[in-house]
Amino acid sequence: MAIERPIIIAHRGASGYLPEHTLPAKALAHALKADFIEQDVVLTSDGVPIVLHDIHLESTTNVASVFPRRARDDGRFYAIDFSLAEIRQLRAHERRKPDGTAVFPTRFPAIDGLSGVPTLAEEIALIEGLNQSREHQAGLYVEMKASAFHRNEGQDLPGAVMTVLKDSGWANRTDLVFLQSFEPEALRQLKYEHKTVLPLIQLIAENAWDENGSVDFDAMRSDAGLDAVAEYADGIGPWLMQLYSGPNDEGEARLTDLARRAKERGLLIHPYTFRADQLPPGIDSFEELHRLFFEDLQVDGVFSDFPDQSRTLSECFSTRP
Ligand code: G3P
Ligand code: CA
Repeated sequence: MAIERPIIIAHRGASGYLPEHTLPAKALAHALKADFIEQDVVLTSDGVPIVLHDIHLESTTNVASVFPRRARDDGRFYAIDFSLAEIRQLRAHERRKPDGTAVFPTRFPAIDGLSGVPTLAEEIALIEGLNQSREHQAGLYVEMKASAFHRNEGQDLPGAVMTVLKDSGWANRTDLVFLQSFEPEALRQLKYEHKTVLPLIQLIAENAWDENGSVDFDAMRSDAGLDAVAEYADGIGPWLMQLYSGPNDEGEARLTDLARRAKERGLLIHPYTFRADQLPPGIDSFEELHRLFFEDLQVDGVFSDFPDQSRTLSECFSTRP
């Protein structure tokens, strides 16, 4: 799949329009001609890869109603404590805050859902079917979520994902599959243990988010850190504010040197997350945001909750041959 413009990755599907990671959101992303459709993956207690952003279930499903006594002592419902048969009893809904209100109030209503939590294999079958029935080819962009957490629970997440990709015939489709993780160890495992030929993307978070264990993302963004990333990965997935650091006193955009230093090392750059309803400070429109990243920063793709709008803008602003 040769795409001569920045690629558009439908972030959790067309999640600006339908509840994240549901099959309807993935079908819509395909209909909106996303180049790639993202899967965040965690495991069930019986080791089945499912498509879910969090290691917990309560923010996006009705687990607390269906299994009210299955929370751990911290009050959270961990996906890894539920078998696939139990996961299949849940309905997914638009993301909610702990108080029950919608995280994105202008999006799809946060009512109990019309569909459930898909397995990775089911989602691949959906995309493969749509690739056959429509005149559009969408690829997979698979993130392994919290591999170290899964390892502590006795489960091998990268290994389970590779098994699904092999069984479904996608493990060698280098033009149609990216693998991504915040954890260098997971990517190294994929490259050196599983010897995958698929392109690997090192996601970069902020240390302050405190979500990825012992990974030092400040060090990762240094020259030495990027040198190390370039040894095992094909690209980086930085938070967009790591490339654009807000307006200066004159209101002009301040750009960091991360994009330049990544390009010098031959790394692709796929920043996250482009949201029309949650623009960064100093940015007045979705169009302005894309112009900045496509023209000034020359990124290679973006994760977008609104893949139709991002695709149109990638065609407007791409300066590639
Ligand atoms: O994987 C890229 C982007 O999705 C990272 O953020 O938290 O939405 O998985 P998150
Ligand atoms: Ca993700």
